[in-house]
Amino acid sequence: MRYTVAVFPGDGIGVEVVAEARKIIDTVNKLTDVQLEIREGIAGGASIDRYGVPLTDENLQLALSADAVLLGAVGGPKWEPLDYSIRPERALLALRKELGLFANLRPARVFPQLLSASTLKEDVIKNIDLIVVRELTGGLYFATPKGVETLPDGRRKGVNTLAYTEDEIRRIAKIAFEIARQRRKKVTSVDKANVLEATELWRNVVEEVHKDYPDVELNHMYVDNCAMQLVRNPGQFDVILTCNMFGDILSDEASMLTGSIGMLPSASLGEKGGMYEPVHGSAPDIAGQDKANPIATILSVAMMYRYTFKQDKIAEAIEKAVEKALEDGYRTQDIYEEGTTVVGTKKMGDIIAANLENILKA
Ligand code: IPM
Ligand code: MG
Repeated sequence: MRYTVAVFPGDGIGVEVVAEARKIIDTVNKLTDVQLEIREGIAGGASIDRYGVPLTDENLQLALSADAVLLGAVGGPKWEPLDYSIRPERALLALRKELGLFANLRPARVFPQLLSASTLKEDVIKNIDLIVVRELTGGLYFATPKGVETLPDGRRKGVNTLAYTEDEIRRIAKIAFEIARQRRKKVTSVDKANVLEATELWRNVVEEVHKDYPDVELNHMYVDNCAMQLVRNPGQFDVILTCNMFGDILSDEASMLTGSIGMLPSASLGEKGGMYEPVHGSAPDIAGQDKANPIATILSVAMMYRYTFKQDKIAEAIEKAVEKALEDGYRTQDIYEEGTTVVGTKKMGDIIAANLENILKA
């Protein structure tokens, strides 16, 4: 089987972690008949520096024509003074929108080897195995009206709109229930229905969709309570279904429970294809120093084999290769603790690729 993958390393540590993820793809190419052809593109700050825009048409076409997209991270302080319309983050938002990737899956699970790396007590986090299903192409990020305007009296007014149509809610709710069916069969839908009408509709539509999934348990939670419950008792969650803005915030929170945001992968899915990226950003403070943790990106590659290419076995092999590296005591600095061995980005990538090679050959 042959597929194409558009790869956008992006900015900062994005470049470094994607280089390690490519070692994983190379290993799979070498040892299996699932052949991924990499087509490298340019997006984010790197594209602004070269072309003056965060994503050129040519690069968008590259993404649209590939079977899947792998992205590192975009952004950095250098581009922060720019107008919103040409900031690096726009590249990401444009890819999500143009590829129709409305479902963002962000699993958070604790690796037993990293139990003590979390800032929370071990017995609070030991049962974490949850997935945030975040709506990705609507809500506060995209709905109109939006922008900054000047009122007749000269005052400036900034506007974003929280709006959802029922079909937008329905399709993401279906994804959440389908995923729950393959897991512990529990969906927590997160809203602010006590205050925001748009999310009251969210709640009602989720209830309607739930009728088709009677085997899945559904509960609703206000977003403020959910933020609190995530640190109080994260083990209660299986699938967290929520809108774009709340999902952005809650997924960062969920990731940190597991020890490091450097561990968390994500998949963004739509009708076809998919985009895979680490949950973390471009981390300009450690960029170019061989310090970044490549595991989130490597696990994103595992998700790519699982969701887009339907290669569960390869996905599992990659996950096992990561676990083995942790078991053998290798840590990047973000997850370091006494008694373990600190390695750089490249070394971690090499170790995981070597583990994968052994697993695939076995
Ligand atoms: C994320 C990021 C993005 C978002 C930014 C970089 C646009 O925070 O993927 O969570 O807000 O969606
Ligand atoms: Mg975010």
